[in-house]
Amino acid sequence: MLKARPKIAVLISGRGSNLQAIIDAVQNKQIPADISLVLSNNPTAYGLERAKLANIPTEVLVKDKATTREHYSQALQEILSRYEPDLVVLAGFMQVLSQQFVHAFQGKLINIHPSLLPAYKGLNTHERVIAAKERFSGVTVHYVTSEVDEGPIIAQSQLEVLPEDTPETLEARIHALEHTLYPEVIAKLVMNNPRLLSKE
Ligand code: GRF
Repeated sequence: MLKARPKIAVLISGRGSNLQAIIDAVQNKQIPADISLVLSNNPTAYGLERAKLANIPTEVLVKDKATTREHYSQALQEILSRYEPDLVVLAGFMQVLSQQFVHAFQGKLINIHPSLLPAYKGLNTHERVIAAKERFSGVTVHYVTSEVDEGPIIAQSQLEVLPEDTPETLEARIHALEHTLYPEVIAKLVMNNPRLLSKE
């Protein structure tokens, strides 16, 4: 019996270069799935333009200061449920999600972080890696749990930090790694995970 094509939702906050890598990988059939939604918490995120250019539905859900993490996550879950994603991909989404949300999407909610986790959780990773004179850095794709940048690691890719690296040059090379690793991981999850292929 033919299986339905899995659906992916991508959550972004900014320029969306990882989103673009995922769009490209769907278009060139590396990822056998459809992107059913791109959602941003930032109405001016350039990634929204990338989605529109690729004819992908977009939604914007802004969190104002008065809204709790729990209420924001509940509203997000309601929007997502309309698009029935099999996999929810965080790609530079700068909003921490509630425990209830993370539980609801357990096993199908993934994130990419620009360090070799568990080292250098949080922001400004490249500055901190260079200040600590690390010889290696890299990227990590992991399942999301309620702790930021925690959760079971799915895949990592590493590179050498060069003596002449600045945060900017390191970031550029890390981004290039991300653009290869994230589509590869998503393709594998879509192809290998029975939960993601269970829709007959
Ligand atoms: C990436 O470096 C990712 O690891 C981090 O946020 C950044 C998003 O970049 N979580 P972009 O918006 O995909 O260009």
